[in-house]
Amino acid sequence: MAPGPILGTMYLPSFSAEINPLQLFKRRINLLCRAAEDARPQRGMDSLNDLCISTQSATDLSAVPDESIDYVFTDPPFGQNIMYSELNFLWECGLGSGTAGGRRTDKTLEAVVSKSQGKGVGEYGELMAAAFAEINRVLKKDRWMTLVFHNTRADVWAAIQRGINAAGLRVEGVQTLDKSHQTFKQVTAEGAVGYDVVVNCRKLPRPIRPKSAQAKPLQILSDLLAGAPQGPCKQRTARHLHARLTGELIKSGNNITMDYKDVLQLLHHNFEALGLKSRPEASGEYWYALRTD
Ligand SMILES: C[S@@+](CC[C@H](N)C(=O)[O-])C[C@H]1O[C@@H](n2cnc3c(N)ncnc32)[C@H](O)[C@@H]1O
Repeated sequence: MAPGPILGTMYLPSFSAEINPLQLFKRRINLLCRAAEDARPQRGMDSLNDLCISTQSATDLSAVPDESIDYVFTDPPFGQNIMYSELNFLWECGLGSGTAGGRRTDKTLEAVVSKSQGKGVGEYGELMAAAFAEINRVLKKDRWMTLVFHNTRADVWAAIQRGINAAGLRVEGVQTLDKSHQTFKQVTAEGAVGYDVVVNCRKLPRPIRPKSAQAKPLQILSDLLAGAPQGPCKQRTARHLHARLTGELIKSGNNITMDYKDVLQLLHHNFEALGLKSRPEASGEYWYALRTD
């Protein structure tokens, strides 16, 4: 039995363990306090007093002055993966939403791909672009934004790329974040992938046209496999290669045009697919190697 709730999904468990919401809340607050404590060496003794947590849509940060922020870290919704506002429904019922003084999440500006909200990739992309424009406005010149993101769909990635470019931010570096264990969503959700891509962007002194490039995905995959450790390892799995390929394409100014399933096909057709498990065709767990013939 799972020791606690599975995050990011609504479900009826066959066995249910009762969780005390107040304890969960306390745990979250303790995490925030620990983060503020960790910031003390950089920010001095007042770090707890001048910590500011506010709630608003990232598409409108009008309370934050222009060019006042040193660094932005953003972990936005990954397109269609998790329906955050809908998942709030149960909490909000418990908190008296719909009654006098109660509140419901305003979904109007939620950046999400959702049938029930009538938002496709176009609407999601516009909201993300508005958020990137606000980030660019509040950042000081030459300062950085770190974006953590991943998705299996090329059109979702393209929307993110367009938003970053239109805002005047420039991608300067890309890394892959290994979350080390797969979440429930990574195993089950349509748009979920195992590794996140960390995109570091800098605010330019003045907007310039983004460079356009023509990198070859097959060549990038070959180079990644040539540089990977020998034998079965995570660096040779499709999820890892997809994250690395996406990162390389973004860094070199290429548009993402391949879905995860296209990358899988490219891998299968051009490299040797070896089983990580005894029945790889059932689990999809392959690792890839350069062909020797
Ligand atoms: C990937 S989660 C971030 C989770 C967070 N890093 C954490 O560890 O709790 C994305 C979050 O963005 C929120 N979100 C969606 N649209 C937004 C908007 N327009 N402005 C601000 N936040 C938004 C979602 O409700 C969700 O909480």
